[in-house]
Amino acid sequence: MQNPQRYLVTSALPYASGITHFGNVVGSTLPADLYARYCRLRGRDTLYVCGSDEHGVAITIAAEKEGITPREIIDRYHGLNKQALANAGIAFDVYDRTSNPVHYDTAQEFFRYWLGKGLLVEREEDQFFDADANMFLPDRYVEGICPNCGYDKARGDQCDNCGAYYNQLDLKHPRSLVSGKAPVVRKTKHWYFKLDEFQQWTEQYVESHASEWKSNVLQQSRSWLKQGLAARAATRDMSWGIPVPAPNADGKVIYVWFEAVLGYISATKQWAKDRGIDAAWKRWWCDADTEYIAFLGKDNIVFHTIIFPILLHTRESEGYILPAQIPANEFLNLEGQKFSKSRNWAIDLVQFQKDFPEPQHADVLLSLIHISE
Ligand code: MF3
Ligand code: ZN
Repeated sequence: MQNPQRYLVTSALPYASGITHFGNVVGSTLPADLYARYCRLRGRDTLYVCGSDEHGVAITIAAEKEGITPREIIDRYHGLNKQALANAGIAFDVYDRTSNPVHYDTAQEFFRYWLGKGLLVEREEDQFFDADANMFLPDRYVEGICPNCGYDKARGDQCDNCGAYYNQLDLKHPRSLVSGKAPVVRKTKHWYFKLDEFQQWTEQYVESHASEWKSNVLQQSRSWLKQGLAARAATRDMSWGIPVPAPNADGKVIYVWFEAVLGYISATKQWAKDRGIDAAWKRWWCDADTEYIAFLGKDNIVFHTIIFPILLHTRESEGYILPAQIPANEFLNLEGQKFSKSRNWAIDLVQFQKDFPEPQHADVLLSLIHISE
């Protein structure tokens, strides 16, 4: 944009299912903070928005592991992460949470809008079901062998090894994370968002930024588009989440990726409310003079370069803007080795701050850390 009047900066909302991964800080919250500080120093009108992502299977699995409720999990980790990020000197203008009723309203309002426009269609499809636990198995509740690369700990929605997204029924040798057994297949009803109608529009959007976006961001987005966009289920069979605002939707919630991204908007609404200027959120989200920059990590790319822009585009007539720049980082290395929680080569932000409470220690640590290109 030639002369933006203001700069909206977001970083991906960390799941409140545990302590925020150090890789998330270095790859997303910290670069966004640096950029926001730079903007403020230049006297630009700047808003840096973040918060906790509090729905989805990441949360319910964490709760089941500890034998407590999802609410207890999110309250604990939202508090810990908010404090730890503040200790690390990250200067958010707002750090909100997706359990905020303001967010429920926002997400349900979008969902109703899409229903009204015929962008969501009801369909019955096969899904994995755990007969012992008597529940459907969305997303990370099933693991198996990746149909694309053969990795043996691939999740139901995405492979952490090769980054592929697929229909969970394509997983080979699936097993339920709840009972450990092979799931059965059952029919269930869901609302599918017609992403396929936006194929051409999305191609144009991505290509219009080809000279500005990083090559990793472009590459992933193009390869997704090359496979062709298909309708995707925007709902799940779960009790924890935002209820689907439609008739006959008992036990259905909005799929976390179709609401968490809207959390940036809800957080901005909360920020405005807290200042008694409720309508001011629109200046940030519905004004063509706002430049929007979304920071995130590698596994969040297509949700921000394809899905979120489509969701915003559906409401372009109301002035909703699109991300102009989407800087995403790759894996994080520590002393030359890839970060990995499972191989115990990772740093827990809260523990680190306990061991090294002086602010200058954070700077020393950061000098040891490198993002691989
Ligand atoms: N919670 C997700 C993760 O940690 C990121 C969500 S980004 C949002 O991978 F935009 F959807 F909120
Ligand atoms: Zn794979």
